[in-house]
Amino acid sequence: MAHKFDTLAVHAGAEPDPETGAVAAPIHLSTTFVHAPPGETDDFSYQRDDNPTQRRLEAALAALEGGERALAFASGMAAVAAVLDTLQRGQRVVVPEDCYVGTRGYVTDVLPERGIEVITVDTTDLDAVKSACGDGVALLWAESPSNPRMRISDLAALAQIAHARGARFACDNTFATPVLQHPLALGADVVMHSTTKYFGGHSDVLGGALVFARNDDFAEYIAARRLLTGAILAPFSAWLTLRGCRSLPARMALHCANARKVAGFLAAHPAVDRVNWPGLPGHPGHATAQRQMRDFGAMMSIELRGGYDAAVAVARSTGIFTNATSLGGCESLIEHRASSEGAHTHSPPALVRLSVGLEDADDLIADLSRALDSTQS
Ligand SMILES: Cc1ncc(COP(=O)(O)O)c(C=O)c1O
Repeated sequence: MAHKFDTLAVHAGAEPDPETGAVAAPIHLSTTFVHAPPGETDDFSYQRDDNPTQRRLEAALAALEGGERALAFASGMAAVAAVLDTLQRGQRVVVPEDCYVGTRGYVTDVLPERGIEVITVDTTDLDAVKSACGDGVALLWAESPSNPRMRISDLAALAQIAHARGARFACDNTFATPVLQHPLALGADVVMHSTTKYFGGHSDVLGGALVFARNDDFAEYIAARRLLTGAILAPFSAWLTLRGCRSLPARMALHCANARKVAGFLAAHPAVDRVNWPGLPGHPGHATAQRQMRDFGAMMSIELRGGYDAAVAVARSTGIFTNATSLGGCESLIEHRASSEGAHTHSPPALVRLSVGLEDADDLIADLSRALDSTQS
């Protein structure tokens, strides 16, 4: 019987331990496993190749994203790099103008050195994507909603553009999570996650993942490279991430409900010039988000009328929103992105990014209200 998403989130990769009957998954820390008798194949051999805790997590990730295979990585960036490293000299990759700064750093600093052509484009503009792809594109990368401007790209349309040119289509689904969006069902070949964020959910575990639509040669090639590069997820990190899966739908529901209230408050505040949150009817990607997402997520950014000074001041003067990088944990975070992104920043100077957490929405609004009012006095 096919289970619904929330049931899968609780039960995927959660079979009771056959040895002991333990309901909570065991953590296997062993780096090595006894060889099978001659003539039989080892199920597990060495932790860097595969290990039981990571295998459980991968089963859960594949089930939640609706893919045939998942691979866990030491970080989101290790997962990004694993896909980009499949590109060969002379090939072209098309990447979004607005995306995680680390992804931009990799395509700017690493790929051109290897003779790979990188074209940056606004992936919300399908005509621009078509001309950027030309007929020589090997990989189209999307991130939707994007970090930090919350741009919404039409994933089904991008998949079609990529496939019509024989290219693969990859999507960073970190902000939405599979609770809100299933890029594989919209045509993506591979979905990437920083599981550090909503999957982990408590700001205490770094990790990344790739989920493949098909368990084909591409997935196998990346699995083999992961073994060689060693970018595997440690068992304790896999266990924490697996635990995060269980409450992911429940947390996302509250994250989204809080975000809706916070965005409504911010949109009406005189110190705020623009709220980038796809749930607002005026957001340019609202209709697309409504079509391809089940809710609008809890990441947003605001642009302050008072420019850079006001943005930095707001990020420094909240109390419940902690001024720190990262996102997706229970606690609300606020950050002036241009200050933290370094050399590769494209963030407007007046932009502040918010990760709306699980606190009481009224407290969050009161906190932002105090901080915003202080920039106006
Ligand atoms: C959208 C997005 N993708 C990828 C990453 C990279 O993930 P990690 O920090 O786990 O390497 C991040 C990190 O902030 C992110 O926000």
